[in-house]
Amino acid sequence: MCGIVAYIGSREAYPIILKGLQRLEYRGYDSAGVALLDKKLEIYKKKGKVAELEASLVGKNLHAQAGIGHTRWATHGEPSDRNAHPHRSSSGKLAMVHNGIIENFAPIKKELISKGYVFESDTDTEVLLHFIEDIYKHDAKNLEEAVRIALKRIVGAYVIILLDQDHPDTLIAARKGSPLVIGIGKNEHFLASDASPIIEYTKEVVYINDYEMAIVKPDELILKNPGNERITPFITKLDMELAAIEKGGYDHFMLKEIFEQPTAVFDCLRGRLDPKAGTIRMGGIDKHLDLLKEAKRIILVGCGTSWHAGLLAEYVFEELCRIPVEVEYASEFRYRNPVIHPGDVIIAISQSGETADTLVALENAKKQGAFIFGVVNVVGSSIARLSQAGAYTHAGPEIGVASTKAFTAQLTVLYLIAMKLGFAKSAITKERYLHLINELALIPEKINEVLRKADEIKILAEKYKDARDFLFLGRGYNFPIALEGALKLKEISYIHAEGYPAAEMKHGPIALVEEGLPIVFVATKDAYHEKLVSNAQEIKARKGKVLAIITENDTIFHEIADETIAVPAADEILAPLLSVVPLQLLAYYTGLAKGLDVDKPRNLAKSVTVE
Ligand code: F6R
Repeated sequence: MCGIVAYIGSREAYPIILKGLQRLEYRGYDSAGVALLDKKLEIYKKKGKVAELEASLVGKNLHAQAGIGHTRWATHGEPSDRNAHPHRSSSGKLAMVHNGIIENFAPIKKELISKGYVFESDTDTEVLLHFIEDIYKHDAKNLEEAVRIALKRIVGAYVIILLDQDHPDTLIAARKGSPLVIGIGKNEHFLASDASPIIEYTKEVVYINDYEMAIVKPDELILKNPGNERITPFITKLDMELAAIEKGGYDHFMLKEIFEQPTAVFDCLRGRLDPKAGTIRMGGIDKHLDLLKEAKRIILVGCGTSWHAGLLAEYVFEELCRIPVEVEYASEFRYRNPVIHPGDVIIAISQSGETADTLVALENAKKQGAFIFGVVNVVGSSIARLSQAGAYTHAGPEIGVASTKAFTAQLTVLYLIAMKLGFAKSAITKERYLHLINELALIPEKINEVLRKADEIKILAEKYKDARDFLFLGRGYNFPIALEGALKLKEISYIHAEGYPAAEMKHGPIALVEEGLPIVFVATKDAYHEKLVSNAQEIKARKGKVLAIITENDTIFHEIADETIAVPAADEILAPLLSVVPLQLLAYYTGLAKGLDVDKPRNLAKSVTVE
């Protein structure tokens, strides 16, 4: 939520910051702004997307070798020019960008107003900036100290970066609860919310930890802890290529990422699944196999699409491992008083690895003695670092705001874990284990086959794009996929959509069925198939339109449904890896047919770093 970029060195700062903001725009796009320092501090900001800021700056003298930029997802204060970042301090000499939320801004603001400070925006960020400046003026020997003192009083989450007109060779940054990466160049440094704005210039980066502060000069990076002691920066090498964060000929990141799924799943299996040897090797599992085998309970924690992956994993773990499993929305779990015993294993599922609710839920559970296993996509992210063991999903950067390839990669990792653990616990036979290994190895090619149906799905999307509502129904392994299909459609096309277990229809939602209501059945062949056929008949009897995702050669559904999309046959437990793909394409093409911005749907942000 909110993207921040900064540069200090000998190049022109503006083009680097602008490009960085474009890459981080998935984190929020309510407004954008830059502060540039060349003798005098200049701040430019604009409501709307980064392109609008860029257009407004054509012809301006933007020369500067230090600068900070921000793309906003509004929390305090509506999206507007005045609430856009960077903010300027009352002396006019400091500029600051912020990602996060200052929870105790109200009493501090009151104090500052009583001292005569005037506020130009409704943001919590401006409160923190004036607060820092007030301390800088009266109680600190330099800006670094003022920031340190101020942050001790702050409750909330933040990454902040400050630019000081009196010290043009220094940026001050600090983090707690929101991400910050610093790229190390030759006599230059790049700061950003993730590595995508940095990758083009350097592969050497330092991930800043909570409570650390960075004093960044062109030729020096000093890291300090809250006790003002220096910490040695831990330099990591990025293993990401520039091409991975570009559209590569596709119209949208979302489409590119849907089409990358065969590769994402393959990459996720690579080096882990060996069908010839009949083995699954996963460092994070192998090292802790005894602990995992002894687990009394597995608790899967995530938000949104990652929660859907957790819900499906509940079915899979119970089936293959015979361990009691619970699935939790991180946002609820963190505020409940959950009963956690030492010996419970928490599997945290997160694409970004930065989702605030998930992060705090894990911190709480860890304190109570649970073992944290991370299933995370972004290497080096906060959740990955908090986890005691884990398995990366290796899906590559996901930039489209709606999660697609990260979801199938999460499922793939969760299947691998469940299969490996189930076999190690003798909860499944060797025969079933080997069968699943072989079936999983075939999935990337089968996803390719589904993707060949993209044009068919596009026609369907155009036909149903004006529907006011949609229902998505599934049972068993396909129930979480029905939820995911509904979520994708609503976020990309703004059509109201609900997902339900098909049998729940009769307990209420069937009242919504009227002539023409599109109802998507996720109906690949499995143990529930006949039951779904009956559910579909009930819908037809009420003149609803049945759109069905079916297994090839399913003649029964073919007869009942108004529309069908067939996917290749697969073991029923793995079929969700195929049945979800047409639903992602349906959402994409519906959004496209409605002329919407599918990569940046309204009100959303990719990485939800505020609760
Ligand atoms: C929906 C979507 C979100 C995320 C959720 C969790 O398409 O992307 O629902 O799944 O915000 O994010 P991560 O996985 O980064 O923790």
